Amino acid sequence: MLRHFLKLSDWTREELIGLLNLADQLKAKQHSGESHHILEGRTLAMIFEKSSTRTRVSFEGGMTQLGGHAIMLSSANTQIGRGEPLRDTARVLSRYVDAIMIRTFDHDDVEELANWSSVPVINGLTDLVHPCQVMADLMTIRERRGDLDDLTVAWIGDGNNMAHSWILAAQVIGFTLKLACPPEEEYRPAPELLAQATGAGAKIEVATDPEWAATDADVVTTDVWASMGQEEEAERRKKAFVGYTVDEELMTSAKEDAIFLHCLPAHRGEEVSEGVLEGPHSAVWDEAENRLHAQKAIMVRLITDNIR
Ligand code: CP
Ligand code: NVA
Repeated sequence: MLRHFLKLSDWTREELIGLLNLADQLKAKQHSGESHHILEGRTLAMIFEKSSTRTRVSFEGGMTQLGGHAIMLSSANTQIGRGEPLRDTARVLSRYVDAIMIRTFDHDDVEELANWSSVPVINGLTDLVHPCQVMADLMTIRERRGDLDDLTVAWIGDGNNMAHSWILAAQVIGFTLKLACPPEEEYRPAPELLAQATGAGAKIEVATDPEWAATDADVVTTDVWASMGQEEEAERRKKAFVGYTVDEELMTSAKEDAIFLHCLPAHRGEEVSEGVLEGPHSAVWDEAENRLHAQKAIMVRLITDNIR
């Protein structure tokens, strides 16, 4: 059956846990040097309309480790940049490759690509959500805590694509999520997405006070104040987010063994202090590594379930 990986709420709890279990197995194989060419002869097309370090390298390296191949495509070096419709690109790429990963701006474009594709489409980040990142984050939390039971996650900062992904993860997995965002509407999570998650029973609260959110949290997480595409708003945003830095003092409100996560790239001295990023709570390097393993699991599951 053709499945895509566009947002976490398209998948059940059982399915996401199954992906995390597979990611753990693939990580163990890679660390022990055991060959796992599960996708030998398979190809991934990667469309990037925004910059990337982790996503690009972890998908491409992951595909190599699985015995397959990845092709990097950007709007600048394909006909996408010259206006070829996504529905045409989707149908053509589907004749050549076994899966398509896309990083772009408008989430509707990813939905459009998936609607016209006959191979699985993976969302490598849109303005709305970044589901592969939160899979790596959940994997990292399980490694550190053992499970996702009785979990409280604190989100500090912008109500952006990462915040949205945490909201959908809280909906599907069932942990408690507390978000502290500045009061202005533009910095808060999208009301429809939030309402859909809480309507589905998610335990989510949104307020403005970082200390309230961090209190007794198992995980404290944040992200840049100006996401890709918001570069011109960076100075205005810096002012709006004063008081939303995750620093050593804020971390004292969280549980003693709390984990700090950040999808990276980080802006030290803005959304996170140097001391927290490099300090004992930080799991950011394992988190970045786990992008590789989580995405390998996603590719294996989607591509092997859709072998034609
Ligand atoms: N976290 C993340 O997606 O990083 P890149 O933008 O480097 O891919
Ligand atoms: N919110 C950030 C995440 C980067 C991985 C952005 O969209 O730029």
